[in-house]
Amino acid sequence: MIVFKQIADLQKHLQSLKKENKRVGFVPTMGALHQGHLSLIKLAQSFSDIVVCSIFVNPTQFNDSKDFDQYPITIEQDILLLEKQNTNILFLPSISEIYPKEKQPLSTYHLGVIETVLEGSFRPGHFQGVCQVVDRLLEIVIPDNLFLGQKDYQQVMIIQKMIELKKHSTKIIIGETLREKTGLANSSRNLRLSENEKKNATAIYQSLLFIKENIDKKPILELQQEVSDRLLNSGFKHIDYIAIVNAKTLQSIATFNKEVPTIALIAAFMGEVRLIDNLIL
Ligand code: PAF
Repeated sequence: MIVFKQIADLQKHLQSLKKENKRVGFVPTMGALHQGHLSLIKLAQSFSDIVVCSIFVNPTQFNDSKDFDQYPITIEQDILLLEKQNTNILFLPSISEIYPKEKQPLSTYHLGVIETVLEGSFRPGHFQGVCQVVDRLLEIVIPDNLFLGQKDYQQVMIIQKMIELKKHSTKIIIGETLREKTGLANSSRNLRLSENEKKNATAIYQSLLFIKENIDKKPILELQQEVSDRLLNSGFKHIDYIAIVNAKTLQSIATFNKEVPTIALIAAFMGEVRLIDNLIL
C-alpha cells in the first residue's frame, strides 16, 4: 500500500494509473476502521483495479466539538488493517491540505428537504460538512465509483444529491450494513461503549426487526411508542428519533403501503455515545 499525504503526489500517481485505463474505486473514511469499512474495501476491490481509501476526521461535519475531540483515532491499526486487505492507496491528508486558505470560504450546497429531516434536524450543519469534504475528495481522487455504507442511509442520499449538483462523474455503490453476531451495526463509535453497553445497544437492531415484523399489523404511532419503551428499558438514555419514512423522500408516512419503499431509522444515545441504524421494511 502506498500512503500519500500530499494531494499533488496522489494526483500524479493516479494520473499515470488512469492513463492505463485502471478503474479507481474510492472508500472515504474517518478512520477507526472496523469490519464494516473492510467489507466496503472488499466491495470496492470487486469493482475496481485500484482502491483508494482516505482517512480524514473532517472537522466541518461535527456540529458538537466534544464529539470531534472524542472521535477515536487508531491510525496505526488502521494502516495494518488496510494493508492486510491489500488496499492499494491510503490518502491521509492534513486539515490544511483539504481546506487550504485559497479554498475559503467553503461551499454551501442546496440539498433541499432531505437535509432538514432526521440527522439534519438533530445535527445542524452536519450534512453541509459531509458535502464539503466529499466534494473536495472527489475533486482530488476523481474515482469511477464511490463506496458508501447503508448504515448512513441519509448520508448516501445527501452525497448522491451533491454529486448531481456538482456534476461529478462518480457513481455511488452502496455496501450493506455489517453487524456483529448480536445484530449491533459496526460503527467506529462502538469503541466508546463498555461491554455491557454494547450488549444493551443491540436493542436498536431488535427494535428495527420488531418494526419490520409488525409494520403491517399495528398503527405506526403505537409501534413507535413500543419501540421507544423498549429502547429506554434497555438502557438508552435518550432517543433522537424512531422514524418510519418513505425511503426515497425521507418524509414520514401515516400508514404502511407495501408498494411504497419504506425505511425505519433510529438514532439514540447509549451513555454519551450516539448510535444510528436503519432497516428497509
Ligand atoms: O461516513 C463517514 O465516515 C464520513 O461521513 C465520510 C463519508 C468519510 C465523510 O467524512
